[in-house]
Parts: sequence; C-alpha cells; structure tokens
Amino acid sequence: MAEPAEFIGKTVDVKGWVRSRRGNKYVQFVALNDGSSVKSLQIVFDLTKFTDDDLRLVTTGASLHVQGTLVESQGKGQTVEIQATELQVYGTADPDTYPLQKKGHSLEFLREKAHLRPRTNYFSSVLRIRHALAYAVHKFFNDKGFCYFHTPLITASDCEGAGAQFQVTTLPLGDLPLGKDGSVDYSKDFFGKMASLTVSGQLEGELGATALGCIYTFGPTFRAENSNTPRHLSEFWMIEPEMAFYEIADNMDLAEEFIKYCISYALEHCKDDIEFLAEYFDKELPERLKFVVENEFVRLPYTEGVRILEDSGRKFEFPVYWGVDLASEHERFLVEEHFKKPVILTDYPKEIKAFYMKLNDDGKTVRAMDVLFPKIGEIIGGSQREDDFGKLKGRMEELGLEGMDWYLDTRRFGSVPHSGFGLGFERLVLFVTGMQNIRDVIPFPRYPKNCEY
Ligand code: 4AD
Ligand code: MG
Repeated sequence: MAEPAEFIGKTVDVKGWVRSRRGNKYVQFVALNDGSSVKSLQIVFDLTKFTDDDLRLVTTGASLHVQGTLVESQGKGQTVEIQATELQVYGTADPDTYPLQKKGHSLEFLREKAHLRPRTNYFSSVLRIRHALAYAVHKFFNDKGFCYFHTPLITASDCEGAGAQFQVTTLPLGDLPLGKDGSVDYSKDFFGKMASLTVSGQLEGELGATALGCIYTFGPTFRAENSNTPRHLSEFWMIEPEMAFYEIADNMDLAEEFIKYCISYALEHCKDDIEFLAEYFDKELPERLKFVVENEFVRLPYTEGVRILEDSGRKFEFPVYWGVDLASEHERFLVEEHFKKPVILTDYPKEIKAFYMKLNDDGKTVRAMDVLFPKIGEIIGGSQREDDFGKLKGRMEELGLEGMDWYLDTRRFGSVPHSGFGLGFERLVLFVTGMQNIRDVIPFPRYPKNCEY
C-alpha cells in the first residue's frame, strides 16, 4: 500500500461515507471513511471556498466524492488531511431518519440494525478481522499442502448424532403425504428421502482424507439447538481438517499450531482494528492474544480434569463427577483459574462423545480432544477416529445408526489411522476481537426466533 507521505502536496480523489462533521464558522471538518480502515480521513472544508449551502447535505451517513490536496495535519489524531477543492454528494442521509447518528450506540441497539451496523467503527473492525482470519485459515492449510474439500450442505446423515438438524423438504407442510402406517412418506419428498442441513462436514471429510491425505473444509454449518447463549449460533462457519495417518497427539499439535497461526496473523495484519477494539471494549485484549500465542497449551486427560474440579472445593452450579459432560463453568475453571492457559482435554468417556471416536484400550474412554479457551470455553472439538471396521460397525449398531454403509467403506477398504477436528470460526473471531457475544461477530446472525434479512 502506498504511504500517505508520497502524496503530500498532490491532488487526490477520495470516496466514502461521512462518519461525523464538526467545526466553526471558518472551517468544517468531516471524518470520511471508505471501509478500508478504522481510521477515517479528515477532510477540511474552508468556508471561504465552500458555502453553508454547499455543505448542507454533508451529514453523518452521506456518501461523498471529494477532490483536494493532501497536506500534513496540524491537528491531533491524524498525520494527514485533505484540503477540499471539489465536492460531490452521491447519496444523502436524512439526519431525522438515519439510525446511526451518534457515536457509541449500544451493541444491543446495533444488533437491531444489523443491516446497517457494518457502517460503524466497531463492526467494520470486527468484519475486517473476520476477513483476515478467514484468509489465514486458507493460507495455513494451503501452505501445508492440505486440499480444500467441499462437503455438502444438504445431507441425509447426522454426523454428531445430536438430533439438532434443520430438515430440508419441499413437501407441503399442511398436506403431508402419509404412508400406510401413518408416518410421512419421504419417498415423495424432493430427494426421495429425509434430508437436512449439515451439522458437520466431517464424515464426508473423512472420505476426502482417505483419498487425498490431508483435507480441510470451511463452510456454513447449521444446528437447531435451542441454545440462547453468547457462544451459540444456529448458522455458523466451521473449519474441519481431516488427516490420514494422524494419531491423537499429531492432531493436538496441528490444532495448537493452527490456532496460534491464525491469532498471530491477526496480531500482525489487524493492528489498528485490534487496538481500536481494545480501547473501547477490552483493554487486556492484545495481551491476552499474545499470551495464547506464546504459551504452550496444557494437555490433560478428562479423568484428571474431573479430579482437579472435584478437589477444588468450589461449589459449582452443575455437579461434577466422572462421566458428566462438563459445563462451561467447569471448563472455564480449569482454563481461567487453575491453569491460566488454554487446555486440551483428552480421553473423554465414550458415552458423552460421538460414535466415530477411537476407543481407548480401557474400553471406557475415547480419543477425543477439546481445546478450551479463556472466555470462550470449547473452541475446538476433535478426535482420532475409530479405524477398526468391526468396532465402528458395532458402535453404530449399538446406537441404531443406519444407512451409512458408504461411511463404513472407509474402514472396509484401505482403512488408516486418521484424525481431525472442528474449529468454530465465530468462536475464534470472538476471541480475537474480544467481543462478548457471538451474534456480534457474524454479519447476519441466526439464532432462535431470529431470521432477519
Ligand atoms: O464439537 P463439535 O460439535 O464437533 C464436530 O462437529 C466435529 N464433527 C468436528 C470434527 O472433529 N471434524 O463442533 C466443533 C466446534 C466447537 O468446538 C465449537 O467451536 C463450534 O464448532 N460450534 C459452534 N459454534 C457456534 N455455534 C454453535 N451452535 C456451535 N456448535 C459448535
Ligand atoms: Mg464439541
């Protein structure tokens, strides 16, 4: 990018939206922003050259084309500014009706105006960081020789088996075709069977990995969980690498390297945006990000984690004992209070994890790994996969999983040890931006009872 110094004294053209306007009867200052940076450009209108009437339409939210001379700024807060010579107003924004008038609207107010909030400094910063992280994801895997593998969004299987799928149908809901036993006749549906939006691309990803070696997916994921929390969305983006010949320890190494890479990338490329968000929301943000990048994650078996929680003497809202699916308060205790570092918890009881995870020799635990982060809780969920055909088939039968013979083919023919994980992209963006609510790190959030735009 060109340095502003190269343009000092030259005539330049700029286009953007007015963030604010102030001044006196001699001069007016307009902060113009084109979305490329959180820093607006100061335009100076000398009132001996422009009349009040010329500037009447220059109000917050209006879009302008300004021509002028770039000069060093005398004022505080910017190094350069433009002395305007020509002005064209593209689109006006009536101050009586434009919703984003004042600075510092609450995030709740802005969530109700989600169609306009990218025009604020907060959200444009979040969205630029989101972009940089998405680019970092692709760069990380591309540089390692992984293949970007596209898994379907419409699927006939339920990867996580949690029953949280959105159904996809073209059947008339008021007049469903019924079979002899009174149940819906899905053979009449669009795909001739029941179909849903995917909760994870993993199972199809495994088909890719057992052919291409190392793959990753990066796409939208849908979960119809009724979780109204600051960490859950009904539509979120997930990155799922899947690697042939990786065992659980390799999987943990990759997860740690990957997440550190993404955070370092943002620290390096999004300095202004991170500083801005730190100033307004979370002073400790840059330190927290650096801390995660510079320190090794703790690796801890679930059984030991439960022992630490039991011995802590802490009165948790949800009881903790071996076999329980840990609640966010338990995860956060381990990460924020006990270790004060990200923790990779491994070897969970098989009953609380998905069917595809590799059974350990103890017959009770599986080679699962969840990466737990400060303020976020679970940011990554993954595992080594069961590669033994007989064991996997047995587990699927126990759980009543049918119609997935295609998946068993990966174990039937040329089965290999393999592993993978899923990173919730918005949880990563949440961590890197220091925002509090996951609904504020995706342009158009989807959550229970909300599907605007
Ligand atoms: O732990 P999960 O359910 O794991 C899987 O889906 C595996 N198939 C991944 C794999 O091994 N390939 O989800 C993975 C991650 C979670 O750790 C979390 O970060 C995120 O996805 N996640 C959500 N993010 C936002 N809103 C939700 N409702 C989420 N559910 C999961
Ligand atoms: Mg999980």
